[in-house]
This record gives sequence, C-alpha cells and structure tokens, in this order.
Amino acid sequence: MALALLVPGGRGQLGQDVVAAASSASGAFGTSGDGLVHAPSSAELDLTDPSAVADAVAVFASTARDAGFRPVVVNAAAYTAVDAAETDFDRAFAVNASGPGYLATSCREHNVPLLHVSTDYVFPGDGTRPYEPSDETGPRSAYGRTKLAGEERVLSTWDRAWVVRTAWVYGEHGANFVKTMARLAADRETLSVVDDQVGSPTWSLDLAHGLVELAALVSSGATPSRVLHATGDGETTWCGFARAIFAELGLDPERVRPCTTADFPRPAPRPAYSVLSGKAWADAGLTPLRHWREALTAAVAAHAVP
Ligand SMILES: NC(=O)c1ccc[n+]([C@@H]2O[C@H](COP(=O)([O-])OP(=O)(O)OC[C@H]3O[C@@H](n4cnc5c(N)ncnc54)[C@H](OP(=O)(O)O)[C@@H]3O)[C@@H](O)[C@H]2O)c1
Repeated sequence: MALALLVPGGRGQLGQDVVAAASSASGAFGTSGDGLVHAPSSAELDLTDPSAVADAVAVFASTARDAGFRPVVVNAAAYTAVDAAETDFDRAFAVNASGPGYLATSCREHNVPLLHVSTDYVFPGDGTRPYEPSDETGPRSAYGRTKLAGEERVLSTWDRAWVVRTAWVYGEHGANFVKTMARLAADRETLSVVDDQVGSPTWSLDLAHGLVELAALVSSGATPSRVLHATGDGETTWCGFARAIFAELGLDPERVRPCTTADFPRPAPRPAYSVLSGKAWADAGLTPLRHWREALTAAVAAHAVP
C-alpha cells in the first residue's frame, strides 16, 4: 500500500525537499499531484494551535485512508533561529516542544506514525567520538533545550513516534551556510571561518530521501529504534566545509582562513563536536546517507546550491 505524507513546516528548507523526495520515490507513492503529500506552511498549519493540529491530522488521516494510502506525519517545522531563541525562549518552546506534543497526541488518536526531526544541539558538544542516539543529552543553548523538550514530548506521548536528529543542513530552499559562503566569496577576497567546531554537513535532499524511506518502513509496521541519527557521512569543520564549497565553485580554497569560535562570539553557544553516529540508522536497515563531500558535489551539480 502506498504512503500519504503530512509535512508540517512544508515550506521550509527540509520540508520542500521532503515533498521533492516523496514525489520522486518510486513505488511508495502516487504522485504528489494526486494530493498524497500535503505540506502546509506555518500560515496554513500553525503547530502552536492545538485545535488546528487536531483538525489537520484528523482530516489528513481519514482522507489518506479513504483513498487507500497509509498516512505518516513528518514534522519538518521548527523555530530554527538559534541565536534569537536565547531571548525568545517562549516562542521557540511553543514551536519546538508544545507543537510537536500536540502533533503526537493527534497522531496517537488516529494511529498515524510520526517522524519528528531534531538536532545535534541536544548534545553538549564536548564528545570525542560520534554521538550515539542513547548518549546522554545536555543542550547548551535555549534552542537545544526546546528541541530536547520536543523529543521528550513526542516519545512519551506516542509509541509510534520516531525522532530523527540531523545537523549542519543545507539545501536549495532557504538560507544556509553554502549560500552564505557563495555570497561572501563574491564580496570579499578572504574570509575567516571557524575551524574548531566539528560536524557533518547534510544535504537536505539526502535527508529527505532518508525520511521517506523511514516513513515507508514504519508505516509497514516495523519498529526501528525510536531515536535515530541521519547526517552526511564523515566529518569536517566549518572551515573545512567552506573550503570544500570554494573548491566546488571553482574558487581558491586558500581564500578561506581558519579562525576560532572565540573570534566570533555568538549569543548561543555552539557545540564544539557534534558528529552523530549513523549506526542505529544502518542497523534499522535504512540506507546510510552518502559522504558529505560527495553530497556537496552532487548538490552543486544539481544546481540545488548555491
Ligand atoms: N538547518 C539546520 O542546519 C538544522 C540542523 C539540525 C536540525 N535541524 C532541524 O531540521 C528541521 C528542519 O529545519 P530547516 O532547516 O528546514 O528549517 P527552516 O528552513 O527554518 O524550516 C522550518 C519551517 O518551520 C516552519 N514553522 C515555524 N514555526 C512554525 C509553526 N508555529 N507552525 C508550523 N510551522 C512553523 C517555518 O515556517 P515559516 O518560515 O513560515 O515560519 C519553516 O518553514 C528542524 O526540526 C530543525 O530543528 C536543522
């Protein structure tokens, strides 16, 4: 039986790529033009409004089932302004914790699996080996605390809810690091980029394909581990990532100079080390995301970025 997806945050960077991945997934779907993928903007579905969430999930579940499809909710909505969250905690909490809680309640009511996207920022970032899903959390930023609260709410509310943590996401839609580097390359001869934060760049389209694969898996009744990590394989620093972007664009990578986090103080602390282990993802039988460097080449070749 084919899938139907409801994607709150459907006009965001990841949400739009989930729609693209769903419409290109062979077998699992009809076409998105058949209305099987519903990806509302925040104006169309505000996750902080519990009755709007209840109505949206109820209509989606019955429409999908009436048409012979298995419904799955993929939550790509979030308050993602990491620095602003330090002084706008209540709003960030409403979107990142309360809203996912409402979604989980409605999904439980209609027996709809829920995939909820989360972040490396739930970890303290002082690790020395890739974080496993079971490793102790300890967010250092307000954003990270709200995202961890969202994880806890979905997992405790609905036993068919899964948390997928990702990191360093870039894609065709919305602002991101790749686009910023391309813009700065046009404006400046040299630029300084932090070289003491380590993570794994993730093309949002690769992640989106992974989420669609996971949606198909859980909708068939499989029960993989409930917290999974999905990022590009491998690791680098922001400086290493920036140099790779320059190289990909045919520019001299030496124009990117390393600096330290202390050189660029930000309102929200960033994790120094936020590599996430993909072992649980692979153990669940899901396709590992490709190496971040290979993905960057593919994203540029596909004109997805910059
Ligand atoms: N970007 C990264 O580097 C990164 C890293 C780790 C994890 N993540 C996670 O990945 C997921 C997707 O992030 P993204 O990069 O796609 O972010 P994004 O481009 O900022 O998209 C987030 C979407 O959420 C929507 N949204 C905000 N408030 C909402 C509300 N009250 N109700 C419904 N929708 C709302 C936004 O819509 P409006 O703009 O219309 O408000 C936006 O379209 C998030 O869970 C994020 O925490 C991202």
